[in-house]
Amino acid sequence: MQNLNTYILAIESSCDDTSCAILHNNVVLANVTANQKIHEQYGGVVPELASRDHQKNIVPVVNEALKAANIKTGQLSAIAVTIGPGLMGSLLVGLSFAKSMAMALNIPLIEVNHMQGHILAHFIKEEGVEMPQFPFLCLTVSGGHTQLVKATDHLSFEILGSTIDDAVGEAFDKAAKVMGLPYPGGPLIDKYAKEGDPNKFKFSSSNVSGFDYSFSGIKTSFLYFIQNNSQKDADFVTKNLNDICASYQQHLINVLLKNAKAVLKETGIKHLAIAGGVSANSELRKQIKNLEAELNIKTFIPKFEYCTDNAAMIGIAGYYKFLKNEFSDLNSVPQARMSL
Ligand code: KG4
Ligand code: ZN
Repeated sequence: MQNLNTYILAIESSCDDTSCAILHNNVVLANVTANQKIHEQYGGVVPELASRDHQKNIVPVVNEALKAANIKTGQLSAIAVTIGPGLMGSLLVGLSFAKSMAMALNIPLIEVNHMQGHILAHFIKEEGVEMPQFPFLCLTVSGGHTQLVKATDHLSFEILGSTIDDAVGEAFDKAAKVMGLPYPGGPLIDKYAKEGDPNKFKFSSSNVSGFDYSFSGIKTSFLYFIQNNSQKDADFVTKNLNDICASYQQHLINVLLKNAKAVLKETGIKHLAIAGGVSANSELRKQIKNLEAELNIKTFIPKFEYCTDNAAMIGIAGYYKFLKNEFSDLNSVPQARMSL
């Protein structure tokens, strides 16, 4: 690999987090993220409000990242930016900003697939942190995606399994909403589950062929479970919150791990990574780690700050694209949907 000395400024704005990172080669110098609290009251991300907040946040976030990295814009080698998948209006803010910056500084623009970014977060260089070796399997679990991806190279991926309907992050967030918890509910279910009994309640799962997933039926059965029990006892959720969260969370983890294990067995792949917002889940992290002994494999769990949306992961993907001269022209448009 070429011995380059690159400084990449990366921007991520695909959903409701405005983030800017600066990387020196594969090392993160700064990673600044502004979260948008406004969506909490609506129980989900409101696209128009997200775009408006990105517009407010982007300049301060970029300035803060440059300051934290102690880098002047003149030192930058390229601008990397999320091109999709995500919310059109949100992507547009980051992409327009990135294009303008690349044009003004006369440096290349690199477009990054958000989901590739999640996977490549494993290649951010950190003291004492090992990187997976190719080919490895990545269980990518976020608010919009649930995929089993075989990575054969930094920029080559094959999807072996995928959700046919909702993402697992949605299954967390919608269940939390049904229980009256604010958005995003995933981290709250994680928190309450710590004090609960994972075997107290049972939930059904859908039969899907191959290594694909389905979470829509699980979500609906959870809704009926809460409605039925709340009819009998109006305080059912309050009285059983910890146990409901622990049992439901365990059910989702069982579903996720079943297919991941099956793929590992069938392919003989020995390195398993997790990525995406749901990989911040403490119980999932623990149970993935336990697979090392059970299946005689190595597992790779990202640092907490690189699980949920962040620009550092866009920067590392940008770095690998820079090494291959994969630049884009300034006519690129955001892609609400795109595959790996
Ligand atoms: O990757 P991400 O930040 O955004 C998308 O690309 O979708 O993922 C967000 C998802 C949300 O559904 C959120 O509830 C979930 O990740 N999440 C969690 C946890 N932290 C974030 N789900 C379960 N447990 C957590 N600790
Ligand atoms: Zn994401």
